[in-house]
Amino acid sequence: MRLGVCYYPEHWPEARWAVDARMMVESGLSIVRIAEFAWVRMEPALGEYDWGWLDRAIDVLSEAGLQIVLGTPTATPPAWLTQQHPQMLRVDANGRRRKHGSRRQCCLNDADYRRHSTRIVEALVQRYGADHRIIGWQIDNEFGGGGTARCYCPNCATAFRVWLRKRYGSLPALNEDWGTVFWSQTYNDWQQIQVPDEAIDKHNPSQALDYYRFSSDSTVDYQQLQIDILERSTKGFVTTNFMGLYRDLDQFDLAQPLDFITWDSYPTGNSGRWRMLLYPPGVNADQNNPVYAYDAGDAIITSMAHALMRGLKDKPFWIMEQQCGLINWGDINTGIRPGTTRLWTWHALAEGANTCIYFRWRPTLFAQEQYHSGLLRHDGQAAQGLRDVHDMQGERELMAQVVQEPFRPKVAMLVRYDDLWALELQPQRKDYHYLRHYFLYYMTLMKMGVAVNLLPETGDLSPYALVLAPTLHMPDDALVGKLTRYVQSGGTLLVGVRSGFKTTSNLVTDQPLPGLLRQLTGVTISSWQALPDGFGLNVQADVPGLLGQATYWFEILEPQEASVVGRYEDGRAALTSNEVGSGIVYTLGWYPDPQQARALLSFLCYEAGLSIQANLPDGLLYFQRGRYQLLLNFTDEMHDVVVDGLQVRLPARDLVLLSGLKDPTRSG
Ligand code: GAL
Repeated sequence: MRLGVCYYPEHWPEARWAVDARMMVESGLSIVRIAEFAWVRMEPALGEYDWGWLDRAIDVLSEAGLQIVLGTPTATPPAWLTQQHPQMLRVDANGRRRKHGSRRQCCLNDADYRRHSTRIVEALVQRYGADHRIIGWQIDNEFGGGGTARCYCPNCATAFRVWLRKRYGSLPALNEDWGTVFWSQTYNDWQQIQVPDEAIDKHNPSQALDYYRFSSDSTVDYQQLQIDILERSTKGFVTTNFMGLYRDLDQFDLAQPLDFITWDSYPTGNSGRWRMLLYPPGVNADQNNPVYAYDAGDAIITSMAHALMRGLKDKPFWIMEQQCGLINWGDINTGIRPGTTRLWTWHALAEGANTCIYFRWRPTLFAQEQYHSGLLRHDGQAAQGLRDVHDMQGERELMAQVVQEPFRPKVAMLVRYDDLWALELQPQRKDYHYLRHYFLYYMTLMKMGVAVNLLPETGDLSPYALVLAPTLHMPDDALVGKLTRYVQSGGTLLVGVRSGFKTTSNLVTDQPLPGLLRQLTGVTISSWQALPDGFGLNVQADVPGLLGQATYWFEILEPQEASVVGRYEDGRAALTSNEVGSGIVYTLGWYPDPQQARALLSFLCYEAGLSIQANLPDGLLYFQRGRYQLLLNFTDEMHDVVVDGLQVRLPARDLVLLSGLKDPTRSG
């Protein structure tokens, strides 16, 4: 596992650079990411480049032995640029034109912003493209960060119409696919189509979904501008830094053209940010999950983000920014205690990361992130993060061995941003969220010690014994064909509620539900509804422990070819199985509670031949990477657990690595 750090030479006197570089190397860091926000230092005025400081910074850092990742600075356009082209500034959903300041303030569809982005990246590449000291490039910074995935300016309106023409070909086709006869929305001129910003009542959900898709495609397209330049003229890798469970961009599309992906992991901040969305309604979102140590973050939330990031390209990834101290953007920004940075680093490694870059080296004395920590303190002395990095020195050899090992979960969950967005637009009960539903399954499996990959619909399903599709809201023929082939050749598939409901244009199917999935599941759904809190139907299934009440959301299944595995109190089917080829599809008619999810998933794992580390206490995670087993404890308690018949003692906020296992996925 290589370690590195984010560094901002432009924030510090040059005389200090060599000291910092030496300290980094002495701490076992080998990579440094620089320059991703330094546009105005590279180009203080239009066409006047100043590379001197960056040349010297690269010299100093690489002479000390560090490899460099260079950022393209397009997330922070200079004031002279937006002053010259005010139409570059984005417009929010309220129609407000953004002012200069902060970051990510420009519209990715603006021709001038794209022209100047191209210019600065070309200039950067001309200067450093052939420099072997630069091992790779980070494009921009956190696409979509700060709620910037969608802009509603006139440029975007024009580009949206072009995008729609390409998708639908003609206005009659668009009118048909959007159902514009409703509320007299029918268009007879492309210019009539508006961006779906703040409206009196709801926007047409087909139009809104297309806008989400268009905005995501705009980012992918803007990224490609930079990829093309970098790939033409540089030798290093090309990547960008993702944001875990971020929802407003199709992260699979964004990842596709990159060499590998990196992401920014802030366990305490992300837990606060995502907790309310992911946990069942009613969980107090203002509080930390009391299971976890206060400075560790919610380990399953961090884990689900790692799993999604790993799944973006289904290959090893980097942490480009790893929290290593307190942050400044949570509700309560706690400090961290000895061992926490080490635990996070090992967690990333356990989940398939091969490189971990800490954010940042030294906290800034000025501007927006004064209260954000780094590996050093403000005064330049080691902070707790750096002390942890030093404490890890003795285990670096071991880390280097673990990183060579494959990470190969046997369970996959299919994630589709189209489904997520469609359900965000029409949740039908306000606390229904695609990711919350997914988290329920993910959390349950993690508590059973079963690792999961979150995959796109294009992913290869053949290595997985069990595939979960908690919601396949708007499948198309290609996906149904793929799932059918997976099951036919022996796979086990679970299809959950709200599946097969929509066409890809976000219209309700005119077929009996679950639409295109009817043949594969062998059932029809005769009715469905959301239930108010406090109401439920008794359920009973031929699955150990799968009983209690169906609450929240349920669907009545009518078996065609399928067999009934569970029933509601009135005798109608609630869970079915359908054998297809040599595999089997289970269809679950209700949104399970955590105990029911546990019973169902234990059964499915058993059926699929997967072993479970069933006795994992809350707050512990278990992973297998090749011949190593890792147990991580994110709580403040010591735990004794049994793994494969072996008694293991796990101190608070610590980990245990067990080796010697034979990797069952390797032959010989
Ligand atoms: C990230 C961002 C960094 C820095 C960091 C602070 O989202 O990429 O530039 O702002 O947050 O936690």
